[in-house]
Amino acid sequence: MDGLQFSPSAERNKEPILQVLQTTLPPTGTVLEIASGSGQHAAYFSAQLRPRHWLPSEVDPNLRRSILAWRSDEPCQELHPPLDLNVLEPSWPVEDDRITRTIGAVELPPINAIININMIHISPWEACLGLMVGAGRILPADGLLFLYGPFKQDGEHTAPSNAAFDQNLRSRNPKWGVRDLEDVTRVAEQQGLKRAEVIPMPANNLSVVFKR
Ligand SMILES: C[S@@+](CC[C@H](N)C(=O)[O-])C[C@H]1O[C@@H](n2cnc3c(N)ncnc32)[C@H](O)[C@@H]1O
Repeated sequence: MDGLQFSPSAERNKEPILQVLQTTLPPTGTVLEIASGSGQHAAYFSAQLRPRHWLPSEVDPNLRRSILAWRSDEPCQELHPPLDLNVLEPSWPVEDDRITRTIGAVELPPINAIININMIHISPWEACLGLMVGAGRILPADGLLFLYGPFKQDGEHTAPSNAAFDQNLRSRNPKWGVRDLEDVTRVAEQQGLKRAEVIPMPANNLSVVFKR
């Protein structure tokens, strides 16, 4: 199908991330994926994590086309079409009847998990704030937020490769950059989300789980 994009990094990290999701996600419900990118993760995770429903989202229309292309290449009943969701918006489309219009007649179980992979360092800090505020509004009492990416810890890079990546990001956009896990945890706590787990991942990345 037209528009299919391929991300080498998503291909590399999908298996290690799946292994963490298998043990951390609630067994049922709907997972809202923020910033789904190409759609490779959505296609892979939705098939592997049934019976959970998977609701991808993307702010970039070209990437939403790519997600639809992956969905068409690898059909899965639990994988729904992508929402147009910008974390900076004061209300997200899952919060009103726009969701019903977007996914047609399919009735989804409640969203009880939000996942966000490799976004908060490749966007301004406001995107991390928007993500936390939205997760705070949407997640129910037993809900969780899963983040994956490179992080500083206690203000320090955890590897020379992360420091070099941070420099590279900032040269591309001064508002981008590898975030400090303590800063991210602080803004999560302001929204009632507690850091529950930090899991070291390949290539000096972390999986971070926040819970209500
Ligand atoms: C490096 S890509 C990661 C994509 C995908 N999660 C992956 O791991 O392959 C960063 C993503 O963040 C998205 N993004 C940036 N700013 C955003 C915002 N304000 N709201 C929602 N998504 C945003 C971009 O459109 C892009 O898809």
